[in-house]
Amino acid sequence: MRNYVFLLICAFLLEQRVADSLEGLYVKRQTFLMDIPPAVSQLTEYCKNVYTQAESVIHQWGHIWRTTRGAVWFVRTTGGSQREQLLAYVAGILHDIVRPITEETCHAQASADKALLVLNGYLEFTISEREEIYNAIRDHRRPVSWKTRVHQSVYLSDKVLEHMGAYLDFRGAVWAGELSRTDLRGLEPVDAVITYYRKASPKFLTGLFPDHVKNLVEYQVEWNRKFLSALERGEVWACQMAETFFNKGRQKHEFEHALQSFNPHDRKQQKWTHEMRTYVTGQKFSLFKTLIDHKKN
Ligand SMILES: [Fe+2]
Ligand SMILES: [Fe+2]
Repeated sequence: MRNYVFLLICAFLLEQRVADSLEGLYVKRQTFLMDIPPAVSQLTEYCKNVYTQAESVIHQWGHIWRTTRGAVWFVRTTGGSQREQLLAYVAGILHDIVRPITEETCHAQASADKALLVLNGYLEFTISEREEIYNAIRDHRRPVSWKTRVHQSVYLSDKVLEHMGAYLDFRGAVWAGELSRTDLRGLEPVDAVITYYRKASPKFLTGLFPDHVKNLVEYQVEWNRKFLSALERGEVWACQMAETFFNKGRQKHEFEHALQSFNPHDRKQQKWTHEMRTYVTGQKFSLFKTLIDHKKN
């Protein structure tokens, strides 16, 4: 019996080491193919700490890290320089630095203002680079007339990757649960999630996005259209998923753990879970790349 327990522990530790080293490999290969100056590493640690205390569980470090990964990817994949990737990185890690649950004042503007204050202590960025970071953060909520690829990088990542796709069908339900004491008070879980999608629907309008990402947006939104219509038809797989994740949000469960520990019950749930996890672990980028129209960039 003792041997069996020992073997189980060894297997668990080995699995953890493999997972850790794969994650390390992924970070190196896919995301940060650039030198991160020591001051920016320090800034990353500062941000990690701030986001650990974020009021909303879906706006903690996991979301920030993925948005940053995507912003850097959008810049790199459209031909941006190492320096531009670094600016997108910094804008990504600071983009929700002020993010209360209720949007009484615009959190993008508040985060941009705070970022500027924080960056005052970082002399390696010129005034125009700070301005570029500031603009990327300030304009990450809505489309504007884009000036540069860094300017639009956080918006694209935050909206097309973090706010669409099968992953959103988990994240959106958690967010509806988080809003169940304020904006969505009194609604049953499935109704609250449907209301969330209807309110968020302008963000899914594919015409809002730059031409070169339209195919990617279409691919992503298709998941959400199918999920929403399954909810509206009362299909069990979708309603059960929505309810489970709504309750995670309502009870403020740790979001990353909720994503990893979900146990799908049928083929549809398995399909959504697989898609969500491949995105979270960074394995969707090779497909995403094929959906970018480089001629329209
Ligand atoms: Fe935001
Ligand atoms: Fe965000």
